[in-house]
Amino acid sequence: MTQYTAKATDGAGWVRYDDIEDDTWAFLYARQMELIKGRACQEYEQGLRVLGLNDKQVPQLPDVNRALMNATGWQVEAVPALIPFQQFFELLAERKFPAATFIRTPLEIDYLQEPDIFHELFGHCPLLTDPVFADFVHNYGKLGVAASPVQRRYLARIFWFTVEFGLIKENNQTRIYGAGILSSPSETRYALEDERASRVEFNLARALRTPYRIDILQPQYFVIDSFNELFDIMNESIMDKIDEAIALGDYAPLFQAKKPPQQEVELSPEKLITSPTFERHDC
Ligand code: CO
Repeated sequence: MTQYTAKATDGAGWVRYDDIEDDTWAFLYARQMELIKGRACQEYEQGLRVLGLNDKQVPQLPDVNRALMNATGWQVEAVPALIPFQQFFELLAERKFPAATFIRTPLEIDYLQEPDIFHELFGHCPLLTDPVFADFVHNYGKLGVAASPVQRRYLARIFWFTVEFGLIKENNQTRIYGAGILSSPSETRYALEDERASRVEFNLARALRTPYRIDILQPQYFVIDSFNELFDIMNESIMDKIDEAIALGDYAPLFQAKKPPQQEVELSPEKLITSPTFERHDC
């Protein structure tokens, strides 16, 4: 399923990366820093400053964790490339964000389906320094722990359309906060500027009923007004909303199903790679 395995950490949480891996990080970091200017939301940019990620070498988790702990009490937890859904939610419920420590190979510098350490640290960690967003993800984890496998499938949609591929309004402009976008050069441009994509106001009922595909540029993005909007939906009442979404059924997909259609579209409720689905990184 994946050619990657997480790199081992030593007793203190450090990982030994070789020169090619460090160069891969430096290349991805420089390229993406340029692209997100004027496109990423201000909380994300502030988070990048708070984290102070290494720009030359793959950052080490103990360094990232010091900054995260000071900001919001979050941590990044090194995990194997594949973890079960249960463990994913349990970690979030402890304010630990799972990350596999491998970085993509040079052959996959522009396309990678699995979330690698660049995606996790550059994409996800800056916003975990924002108190409201950090609490939203924490509550998401706690609700996920208690959810049934079917309910988790719908919670995964929320994660997908917000944490991974969310847009936000900022001073009458649309900006990016989703990690799946911010770690992908092509999607960073596409999500904001391409006419083929639709951008709609975030609506919980609609997001819950919207299927998605992991391996394409997203046909539709949901735009929130503020992180408070996310925080406000993430409580017990979301389970009622999920039940309503199940009763009403899904909207027709905005994408072509892969063949055979019944085996495509979404994740298995039992397995995932460090995020509720595999992710697409077309860089
Ligand atoms: Co992710």
